Amino acid sequence: MKKRVVYVNGSFVDEDKAKVSVFDRGFLFADAVYEVTAVIDGKILEWDGHVKRLERSLKELDMKFPISENELLDIHFDLIKKNTLKEGLIYLQVTRGEDDRSFDYPDESVKPTLVLFTQVKSLAESNIAKTGLKVISVPDMRWGRRDIKTVQLLAPSMCKMMAKKKNKDDAWMIQDGFITEGTSNNAYIITKDNVLITRNLSNDILAGVTRRSIIRYAKEAQIKIEERPFTIDEAKKAAEAFVSSATTFIGPVVEIDNQKIGNGRPGKQSLRLREIYINESMKNALHA
Ligand code: PDD
Repeated sequence: MKKRVVYVNGSFVDEDKAKVSVFDRGFLFADAVYEVTAVIDGKILEWDGHVKRLERSLKELDMKFPISENELLDIHFDLIKKNTLKEGLIYLQVTRGEDDRSFDYPDESVKPTLVLFTQVKSLAESNIAKTGLKVISVPDMRWGRRDIKTVQLLAPSMCKMMAKKKNKDDAWMIQDGFITEGTSNNAYIITKDNVLITRNLSNDILAGVTRRSIIRYAKEAQIKIEERPFTIDEAKKAAEAFVSSATTFIGPVVEIDNQKIGNGRPGKQSLRLREIYINESMKNALHA
């Protein structure tokens, strides 16, 4: 594979030359936040949503925004150009920076670390839309501030592996009997009488950028929406189910805990919403 050019603290360097300190708090404490933004046809999708959520995550953790929004957007464009990225994603991470290991936050003089890199991935023509996803339910063992997009991803990674060990694609995590979200996506069901249900925003889930747009497009398409927690039993009885994220857009769910959803194939409404989502977000996508 061709070597990527990545961004580290003000410089664009070959990926094998990119270095972050062993004292970085992102490494020692997972004291860092991130964003993942989709790129199609070399254009950036949902920029505004991602940059606003990044600002919020940083604010919730009393971290500094390392550079201006415009500079950050320019780095995204530079990375697309330097890596001739047509379709895939841009990963961005901000850590509180490098300091001697200590549980207190370091003082103001410590500069945040900023890293960005690209990853090639087929998004619009993904197989997920054709075959759908099989999920299992697992207890949600994450921390209590899932609204902040931190890099503490070991619990969801373990949940994903529980699914993989059973030859499934992903896990829906359960708290107090209700589904919170997928390991790296928001979860939805569509009832037999055509109501779209997804968990309401709170500290329990990440406010997905894709979720916000889907709700808007669903409303415009006259689909009734309920933002509330739902159970696995409700999900198993649903006509359709799907997940959303910047990298799957809408991924139909065709099986939950070995039980088929609907006819076991990607649902019509889910695929329709997926198409609307891709078309609409491409219309608003940013290019250099
Ligand atoms: N994950 N919930 C969780 C726990 C997530 O990690 C994500 C995104 C989402 C969906 O958010 P958005 O629509 O803004 O991508 C919901 C990214 C894609 C990741 O970790 O790779």
